[in-house]
Amino acid sequence: MTGGAGYIGSHTVVELLAQGHEVVVLDDLSNASAEALRRVGEIAGRDVELLEVDVTDEAAVLAALERARPEAVVHFAALKAVGESVEQPERYYRTNVGGTLNLVRAMDAVGCRTLVFSSSATVYGAATQMPLTEDSPLGATNPYGWTKFVVEQVLRDVAASDERWGVALLRYFNPVGAHPSGRIGEDPRGVPNNLVPFIAQVAVGRREQLTIFGDDFDTPDGTGVRDYIHVVDLAEGHVAALAKLAGGGADGDGGVRGAHAWNLGTGTGSSVRQVVAAFERASGREVPVRVAPRRAGDVATSYANPARARDELGWVARRSLDEMCEDTWRWQSGNPQGYAAS
Ligand code: NAD
Ligand code: WQD
Repeated sequence: MTGGAGYIGSHTVVELLAQGHEVVVLDDLSNASAEALRRVGEIAGRDVELLEVDVTDEAAVLAALERARPEAVVHFAALKAVGESVEQPERYYRTNVGGTLNLVRAMDAVGCRTLVFSSSATVYGAATQMPLTEDSPLGATNPYGWTKFVVEQVLRDVAASDERWGVALLRYFNPVGAHPSGRIGEDPRGVPNNLVPFIAQVAVGRREQLTIFGDDFDTPDGTGVRDYIHVVDLAEGHVAALAKLAGGGADGDGGVRGAHAWNLGTGTGSSVRQVVAAFERASGREVPVRVAPRRAGDVATSYANPARARDELGWVARRSLDEMCEDTWRWQSGNPQGYAAS
């Protein structure tokens, strides 16, 4: 697993270990802490091997795969800050696209051709027709989004060139929440870009108030609507996708080859104000807000049609917005400074 020390990766390691898989993590720790994996080991009752590898280093990626000899790879390692990608596009393409090319080459060299890739609903660009299905038109509105768009195309082309490849393009909607133990969660460096980590830091007293980016959208209360999905549901989606590619899927059929996109979302949208209200209920704390103009590039509404993942992977998101907020609060209140204190 590349990027396995990060937010979604650490939660996915927990679910894979619970299913009896063995996991080796490749991560350069540029946006993560080794402490997260130590705690994953605590939760799972088993240690997780970490190889400190930068995916842009082709030789190091190959050496790591020769050591790990994986049956399948889950590829999370990427840079993900939209605003930063506008300032530093070359760095984003090098890490997200170049890193994936290094990985594909190394996988081919060690004879492993089963890959689960972290794509994103960002590949639907500025689409306005909701809900989004896997056949909705693709595009992007910033360099980060283009890196996901390009990698998807690379992986479709690779899979088309050699029928031994099986690739899952998992398009996540808005991952939030934390493991119910409260031991691992999202620990952004600096000012959080995303809504729920920002709200959590306001509730715990690290920041004064939330800025709502626009309340004049064409939505029920005027604030932006998104499809928030619990990170543990998302982690379970990776287990289901791996089973499908490896031939142990819910329907017990042979391993699926080729490249396939699956939306991982709940199918339900929530507005910024609804999320704030849910977080206040979960935390018992007031979350002061102020309204500012819209953030550049934000669409009014985005939510998934998750039917294909339900039908083909046998996976559905089961956890509610209230659980997402309760689990985020357990993590944030128990670890007000994230992993830093450890
Ligand atoms: P994260 O930053 O917590 O995890 C990414 C991990 O990759 C980190 O552990 C980081 O240290 C590692 N990494 C970064 N550059 C690396 C490099 N050059 N070499 C090796 N490791 C490197 O982010 P996350 O939220 O867990 O996201 C995981 C994946 O999911 C990313 O590909 C991201 O683009 C994608 N995604 C995230 C979201 C979201 O909102 N969180 C939504 C859709 C898709
Ligand atoms: C959610 C809503 C904001 C912060 C981004 C990326 C996307 C994907 C997930 C990786 C919007 C509003 C936010 C704040 C606010 N990442 N908001 N005040 O923009 O849907 O998606 O993360 O692939 O590519 O673009 O998520 O959490 O930033 O915003 O009012 O301080 O909250 O306007 O309506 P977004 P988000």
